[in-house]
Amino acid sequence: MEDLKVVIGSDHAGYEYKEKIIDYLNARNIPYTDIGTHTKESCDYPVIARSVCERVISGKSNRGILICGTGIGMSIAANKVRGIRAALCSDTYSARTSRAHNNANVLCLGERVIGEHLMLDIVDIWLHTGFEGNRHKRRVDMIE
Ligand code: RB5
Repeated sequence: MEDLKVVIGSDHAGYEYKEKIIDYLNARNIPYTDIGTHTKESCDYPVIARSVCERVISGKSNRGILICGTGIGMSIAANKVRGIRAALCSDTYSARTSRAHNNANVLCLGERVIGEHLMLDIVDIWLHTGFEGNRHKRRVDMIE
């Protein structure tokens, strides 16, 4: 699997989980770019989604993580960007399979939906699972 270069962003409703994921990344020396938001003041998730996705498409980062209240707004916005395959995950099976089968390049999370420990398990599995390719590559190519 390629070296991880993460880009992360949240709105105000995902801010606390963003900071927890940054602690996780720092503890493991995984390089990342923090797009913001940097406070709990209300902000608009589509703007953050766009910035994170553009960085993934540019190749400066190879994995994006987006957090909002539900993860839904972020995933809708992210999947509008050509080349982005955003997976909204609330369980570890989906996190693993979104990488192995769908080659998801963006993970979306809902801070108001799942607990912190499950969230960190999802992040860990998602970052460290590779794409299986083969028949799954054919299907992903059909999407692209
Ligand atoms: C913000 O209140 C909330 O709507 C946003 O974080 C997100 O859940 C939208 O999908």
